Amino acid sequence: MKAMEIKLYYILALVVLVINLSSYGICQTKEDLGKGASFIFGDSLVDAGNNNYLQTLSRANIPPNGIDFKASGGNPTGRYTNGRTIGDIIGEGLGQPHYAMPFLSPNTTGRTILSGVNYASGGGGIMNATGRIFVNRLSMDIQVDYFNITRKQIDKLLGPSKAKDYLKRKSIFSVTIGSNDFLNNYLLPVISVGARISQSPDAFVDDMLNHLRGQLTRLYQLDARKFVIGNVGPLGCIPYQKTINQLDENECVELPNKLALQYNARLKDLVQELNENLPGATFVHANVYDLVMELIINYAKYGFTTSSKACCGNGGQFAGIIPCGPTSSMCSDRNKHVFWDPYHPSEAANLIVAKQLLDGDTKYISPMNLRKLRDL
Ligand SMILES: *[C@@H]1O[C@H](CO)[C@@H](O)[C@H](O)[C@H]1NC(C)=O
Ligand SMILES: *[C@@H]1O[C@H](CO)[C@@H](O)[C@H](O)[C@H]1NC(C)=O
Ligand SMILES: *[C@@H]1O[C@H](CO)[C@@H](O)[C@H](O)[C@H]1NC(C)=O
Repeated sequence: MKAMEIKLYYILALVVLVINLSSYGICQTKEDLGKGASFIFGDSLVDAGNNNYLQTLSRANIPPNGIDFKASGGNPTGRYTNGRTIGDIIGEGLGQPHYAMPFLSPNTTGRTILSGVNYASGGGGIMNATGRIFVNRLSMDIQVDYFNITRKQIDKLLGPSKAKDYLKRKSIFSVTIGSNDFLNNYLLPVISVGARISQSPDAFVDDMLNHLRGQLTRLYQLDARKFVIGNVGPLGCIPYQKTINQLDENECVELPNKLALQYNARLKDLVQELNENLPGATFVHANVYDLVMELIINYAKYGFTTSSKACCGNGGQFAGIIPCGPTSSMCSDRNKHVFWDPYHPSEAANLIVAKQLLDGDTKYISPMNLRKLRDL
């Protein structure tokens, strides 16, 4: 009798323990696996904290960044915005059990990686040389190398055949990159003047797309099948560009926007090419440029009071020169600014963009939205 009671007690304790652990997302049950994963590649628009672990000049783990990020109680996490990134919001929208964790975080181990991993890095670009003014960042080549490490860990966790199936059917690979190749490479004054003289915009865009084709093909070789590729936003309209070029409120700098559009037109062709050439893969094109431009032009329609002035930052007419930090001035209503800082959208803007990518139509996300991509 006594032995039976003890056994029962242990079973009960075990059940309670398992329930507790799964509610904290620590223990990945079979049910969680069914919710799928996000593997996130990109730059500061989607970095969830990788740069905290690099010796770099590009960091966002200082207040008031993260002030509206509930999961950290408003403490900075390394995200370059006041709250959630587009990648976080999409993961939530798709029903994933927790945000994809930064690859470089020591906590990103064991079964947590089955909900996805984030490789994005502030300052990172398609080209290796991009962002070198920050000293350190993870460029796209390295991000794919890191996924190759995760790939082997997933093999160990699930066994090779289940791992393959999980990656092909249940995992979404998002790539948000390219802005820094212009802002912190091609367009940089002085440092890259040599490159700009020797390379036409056409040749540079060509180089970018050839590299990106190689990087996406490597992900395919590692069993990625469901891709979403974001184009480059209207770089000439960010508070930083508007401030240093001393523009009026409703003007944008021409050259950065022209370069972005030139790249974006060719990116669309690349997405179509990959859909035709890589059997079993679906590449979805996210038209971030038009989405963000819509918010910038029609900001009032979406409840914003400005799309030119950064909420957090300093310098010039649009608070667009000095990045957001403890000594910056901060706006009183963070939901009323399209831009959080001189470079990055606010969480309020990210929510609108993410909603369109999840559930919108082909104007912004084609050939299908992310909910349909998940359910393929
Ligand atoms: C890692 O997990 C521990 C325990 O949950 C937590 O205290 C710590 O803040 C986490 N570290 C990071 C960098 O997330
Ligand atoms: C970029 O860097 C990676 C890692 O250091 C390297 O493997 C790759 O060959 C480099 N690419 C080019 C084009 O230099
Ligand atoms: C992944 O890593 C292995 C070595 O561990 C290498 O042989 C393979 O080429 C890599 N795959 C890709 C796509 O980079």
